[in-house]
Amino acid sequence: MVARRLPLWPLLQVLRRARKMGLWAEIKPLLMDRLFPVRIKGTKEKDPSPPILYQMATGYWISQAIYVAAKLGIADLLKDGPQSCVVLAAMTGTHAPSLFRLMRALATVGVFSRVGRDYFALSRLAESLQTDVQGSLRGMVMTLGEIHYQACGNLLHSVQTGSPAFDNLFGTSLFDYLKQNADAADTFNQGMTNVSSMLVYAVLMAYDFGGISTIVDIGGGEGKLLRKILALNPEMTGAVLDMPRTIESVNQELNGNARGGRCSYIAGDFFHSVPERADAYLLCGVIHDWDDSRAITILKNCRRAMAEKGRVLVVDMVVPDTDATSFSKLLDLNMLVMTGGRERTESEFRTLLDASGYKLTKIVPTMAPQSVIEAIAN
Ligand SMILES: C[S@@+](CC[C@H](N)C(=O)[O-])C[C@H]1O[C@@H](n2cnc3c(N)ncnc32)[C@H](O)[C@@H]1O
Repeated sequence: MVARRLPLWPLLQVLRRARKMGLWAEIKPLLMDRLFPVRIKGTKEKDPSPPILYQMATGYWISQAIYVAAKLGIADLLKDGPQSCVVLAAMTGTHAPSLFRLMRALATVGVFSRVGRDYFALSRLAESLQTDVQGSLRGMVMTLGEIHYQACGNLLHSVQTGSPAFDNLFGTSLFDYLKQNADAADTFNQGMTNVSSMLVYAVLMAYDFGGISTIVDIGGGEGKLLRKILALNPEMTGAVLDMPRTIESVNQELNGNARGGRCSYIAGDFFHSVPERADAYLLCGVIHDWDDSRAITILKNCRRAMAEKGRVLVVDMVVPDTDATSFSKLLDLNMLVMTGGRERTESEFRTLLDASGYKLTKIVPTMAPQSVIEAIAN
């Protein structure tokens, strides 16, 4: 039979011995900070949680479990209603008892709901793991769970050397790796599109695009952000500049119509040059990919190409100068391991823009964690 209560006797015995052996100083913080919160809760609640630090340190158990569910497409298989793990396992070619353990673990943190002994359904969180829904995060979860996760596992290297763990692990830089690995590139681009789909209205609701006739989205990926900006500003025309592989795959999706029209797609290298004479150059999630010297090269290329009275619009997070809790400080670690880029404070942006021939004119916060940082040519 399983004992329901913590037996008191061994605990008292250890305490007595520890005190006798002079171990009290060592054992007290352990009891106060770690064991007591669990046990005290445990005596009242059926289901005690582990201590906070332990929960943090095991966070990757959850992130990898979410990744595996996303990779297997489980949420898409549940869109018409609950399903048993036996059926889900048959549809995904997985081992049913292990899939059950995965689903049970995810249900305990609110990703999926357990609705019967072996049956699971979508929860609100799991809805975002579907592929083609508004607010889908499936692509982002997958790229995080694959290349980002591996690079982060090598974080120590970045902290010891200051260089990207990704390069150390994969033997090449992130964007060169994506050039050579079509599947990883597609997943990465889908992930970026997931994020920009969420960001697009936040940017549109915060920044007034009035007065801009032509705009270029530098490193615009699949162009989700620019297309929405153009849709809501019918007097504007625009272009997306990105790497040839990305543009090629957009072109296929658009049945060969990526050139011309109000939103044109251009293959190129922003370290080399950017399209000429636009009124605005949008850099969403691009400047944070790079260290200062490479960020300055991109910004200078925009400066050189822009029309008179042109501007750049950098969409990135602004790291608070204070000790305030901010997601930007964690994303900054991701940039450290992935590309050697960084998140920046307001004064770091000011210095960067100044060095690139601009004057920072305003920082417009949005409903999302990102702000629009506007700068005009000096
Ligand atoms: C972090 S993603 C941001 C994508 C997009 N702006 C968004 O917010 O979803 C960076 C983008 O820069 C592109 N990129 C990287 N190096 C580039 C280069 N040298 N020239 C042009 N584009 C590049 C990548 O292909 C990718 O689409």
